[in-house]
Order: sequence, then C-alpha cells, then structure tokens
Amino acid sequence: MILGIGTINLDHIIDCRHLPAPKESILCKNVTLMLGGKGANQIAAAGRLGAKTMFISMIGEHDPNNEILFDDLKWAGVNTDYISTVPNMPSGSAFVCVEESGQNIVIIHAAANAAITPAVVDKNKRCFELADICMTEFAVPIETCEYAMKLAKKNGKTTIVNPAPYADISQAFYRYMDIVTPNEIEASDFCGFPVADEKSASEACAFFHSKGVKNVVITMGSQGVFVSDGRETLMLPCHKVNAIDTSGAGDSFNGAFAYACSMKKDIFTAARFGNAAASISVQKKGTARSMPTLREVESVFRF
Ligand code: RIB
Repeated sequence: MILGIGTINLDHIIDCRHLPAPKESILCKNVTLMLGGKGANQIAAAGRLGAKTMFISMIGEHDPNNEILFDDLKWAGVNTDYISTVPNMPSGSAFVCVEESGQNIVIIHAAANAAITPAVVDKNKRCFELADICMTEFAVPIETCEYAMKLAKKNGKTTIVNPAPYADISQAFYRYMDIVTPNEIEASDFCGFPVADEKSASEACAFFHSKGVKNVVITMGSQGVFVSDGRETLMLPCHKVNAIDTSGAGDSFNGAFAYACSMKKDIFTAARFGNAAASISVQKKGTARSMPTLREVESVFRF
C-alpha cells in the first residue's frame, strides 16, 4: 500500500503555439481542465499502475471544481477517503501553458494545499500504520513534509521524498528520507554546485548520503536518471521518444518508481520502470490524465 501526502490542483492545461513573452498577449488553441498537483499526479501514477493507494490532502470545501478532481482521482484508482476540506478557500489550481515544442511554464495557486498541516497528518495517523511506502513532495508545507516522514519512519515504513520545488530543510529531515528524488535543478540547490553531468551527479549523491539519505535518484531530463544506493551508482538513459508535453513527467516517474518499490524491486530496477512510465506520459497531453497503465509501461519495460 502506498500513502501519498501531497497537493491537489485543478490544472488548466493551456495549449499555445509559443509561450508568451513578458508584455505579450497571445491567443491559445485550447484549455483543458484536469487533476494536477504534484502529490495528486504521483499517487494517480501509482494508482493507474494498479497500486493500492491512500492520499492525504486538502481541498476547498465549496470549490465547484472538486468534482473534476474526484472524478480524475477515481479514474486513477486512488482512495480519496483521506482528503479533507477547508472552509472559505478554493482548492489549489495551476495554469500550465504548453507550447508546440513541448516546453511549458506553470503558475500555481496553493490555496487549500497550504492547509495541509501536521495536524492533518495526525488526524490520519492510521494511514501510516497501514502503508508500506510513504511519499511526499515539497509543494506541501515543508514542516508537514518533515512531520509526515518522521511519523512514517517511526512506523518503520519506507519513505520517498520528491523535493520539488526546492525548499530549505532541517538537518534532521535528511535522516527521514530512505530515497530522495530531486531533479538536477533541485539537486543543485541542495548541494550548492551545478549538477549537470554524471560527475556532478555522483558528487550530489555523496552530499545526500553524507546527510544520512540512504538512496538518491536524480532525474536529469533527456540525460536520464542517476541512481545511487551508497555502494553503486548508475546513469540510466531515458527512452528516446517524441515528447509532446513534459508537464507531470517527473510525477509520472515518481509514482511509477514508488509502485515498483512497493513491488519490492531494487531502486535501479524501480528507476528503470519510472523512466519507462515517464516516457509514455510525455507522449500524451496533460498531467494526471497522461499517467500510463501497467500494460502500457510493460510494452516498453518489464520487470
Ligand atoms: O508537476 C506538475 C504539477 O505541478 C502540475 O500538475 C501542476 O499542478 C503543478 O503543481
């Protein structure tokens, strides 16, 4: 069972010929509304693959768009019992502009997500007993991320932390991370030097290990994924595909990676599986709705 503690947004996917420059107004080609938010995308990715899931999050009590969020979570097979409501606040939203090249920009309104407090985690303590794997991401208030991962470790669970977007963290937090999954930009922010190739990625892994993190998985875009378990390091190349929309690709990777870990695969195999899932999601438009099924992933990678 995989437990996610994460954000939910209503994504407004805006298709345009090119991304607007400052002061430029453009007409877009299409706007699609769908489930988004890093946490929701990641747990949806795991759910679509067939994982049993639980998801702790917050939405606005009377937001008229909640129906879309629940429909998409259910489509992905995510258990929505642990999503709570906040009065007088909208649900989170994001505006994802995607241009024809596949490049995107994202503007986020956290709204109800800002109310995912340690008290919300406490209210759902039982989930931490039931789960095998607990994962979180940094769009959740950082004190809640740390609190949740500490609780997960207290319960003897495996933790996966996707530190996106980057946030300053306490020294103690590193020790609650069994696996950390930054991209190369976030890894650079943590380490204080640019992470751009295998050598610097290996140094970044050494940095995380020295802080007490057991396993490090750095997603490096078209270069692939750099993985270290503290003994061995490997650069796993990504699949060469025709990407039409990379929004949510990292979430697809993380959710599929968590799924593979829940199937007791080692982190190198899990990262290969995550790579395969992400390569399929980037060939589809959108965020949560682009997460592949197990059958789709198995068409390019089998355990
Ligand atoms: O990682 C992609 C997600 O980031 C989008 O779904 C959007 O909601 C933003 O939070």
